[in-house]
Amino acid sequence: MKLFIDSGNLKEIESLVPLGIIDGITTNPSLLAKEPGDYKQILKKICQIVQGPTSAEVVATDAEGMIREGRELAAIDDHIVVKVPFTREGVKACKALSSEGTRVNVTLIFSPAQALLAAKVGATYVSPFVGRLDDIATSGMNLISEIVEIFENYQFTTEILVASTRGPMHIIEAARMGADICTCPAKVIDALFNHPLTDIGLANFLKDWEKAQSVRA
Ligand code: G3P
Repeated sequence: MKLFIDSGNLKEIESLVPLGIIDGITTNPSLLAKEPGDYKQILKKICQIVQGPTSAEVVATDAEGMIREGRELAAIDDHIVVKVPFTREGVKACKALSSEGTRVNVTLIFSPAQALLAAKVGATYVSPFVGRLDDIATSGMNLISEIVEIFENYQFTTEILVASTRGPMHIIEAARMGADICTCPAKVIDALFNHPLTDIGLANFLKDWEKAQSVRA
């Protein structure tokens, strides 16, 4: 399963990419609005750092505007994936952009029906938001399992990009279900590393080693 960072913050991205576990980046208007500077330059820099798919979202709400913005975003770098919201206009824009060879990530997916329609218009990725469903007492992970089943039934090549992840269990469950990608805030990726037994085990190995060295000395 691929791991993306859900962030527009260059420091977070620069600190995680050298670990070798990051396959791409997702941004959205809320994330980029937090970052000072020109968003196009930030996106370019992100692409140069990660050298992998980098989602950049349109803010137009009509298909024509989305297509125009999508083309502008795609021109920033070959790694850019144009993100459009799941609306009727977004579906039209996805069809048009995908037909001209631009990769599209259809976002704000909250039902299997929406994922199915996005796949039918050639989306490269669908982004179901698991955390926001959990927030309203609906299982986000059930949605992932339904989309996995539907896409397998028809061999859609659209990848399932699990978004709005809030903790390590979202990532583990997504991997068990066979989702293609999880996009995670940096703090969720950090949490994947942690296990107290690893820390205790390493401390003990080092202590035993030092003890043996001092006896030999
Ligand atoms: O990029 C979209 C997404 O992952 C949103 O997450 O935490 O704002 O629901 P969140």
